[in-house]
Amino acid sequence: MNKEKQDFPLKDFYKDIYKKYDLVNRIFTFGRDRKWRKKAVDECLDNSPEKILDVCTGTGDLILEISRNAKSAIDLTGYDFSSEMLQKAKEKAKREDRKIKFIEGDVAAMPFESNYFDSAGISFGIRNLVYENSSAKLHLSEIHRVLREGGRFVILESSKPGNRIWRFINGIYLQFILPYLGGAISGNIKAYKYLAKSSKNYYTREAMEDILISAGFHIIHSRSLFLGSVMLMVVEKKQ
Ligand SMILES: C[S@@+](CC[C@H](N)C(=O)[O-])C[C@H]1O[C@@H](n2cnc3c(N)ncnc32)[C@H](O)[C@@H]1O
Repeated sequence: MNKEKQDFPLKDFYKDIYKKYDLVNRIFTFGRDRKWRKKAVDECLDNSPEKILDVCTGTGDLILEISRNAKSAIDLTGYDFSSEMLQKAKEKAKREDRKIKFIEGDVAAMPFESNYFDSAGISFGIRNLVYENSSAKLHLSEIHRVLREGGRFVILESSKPGNRIWRFINGIYLQFILPYLGGAISGNIKAYKYLAKSSKNYYTREAMEDILISAGFHIIHSRSLFLGSVMLMVVEKKQ
């Protein structure tokens, strides 16, 4: 799973790009990221959870959408190690008067009891946790630990498209357009080079399934979105 390379200074990156992060997301996904998150939200809510964790919540878009769609009162937690990204999330939640706990910390050591959450979601964050990351196994085992048995883990992430022509077009976009435009808008080209490279070289859906099975999860279902450039996976902690 790891490629034995130096871990990327991810926390520093988000400190630089948090101001324009939402804008760049909207532009680079042609506004589709919201629709994809909505699909992930439906999956997070499908087992009628009482406690939900948004891992790598960033500016809070997933947990906010969960809050908007919840039919009953749910204990909502957004977790991230970037105080700047979390600050944005808190401001957005305050504007909408949403009751969400935002907690700062590293996924490698989460301050939650074992078997606590009924559902966990992660949107565009698992790549950060497993791609060329020496703590990849630890990150997955922590998420596994805090979920109750039978609890769901819903993953929305970039993926390598299976179709060769689309993979080529997607690769050109990620290598030659996203880093430079993202860099120009956010002021940090290195950050967007990493994000684009990790997206371009990320796993296929099938490879990601194998990684999750090795981490103790059972695949409920998974599917491709946007011609395979994005994957939505629903897995559960084995009973
Ligand atoms: C690409 S952003 C995704 C944010 C948000 N979930 C979304 O849908 O836009 C990835 C987030 O993961 C966080 N992150 C990366 N590695 C982390 C770690 N080890 N522990 C906690 N947060 C982490 C970053 O701070 C960043 O906010």
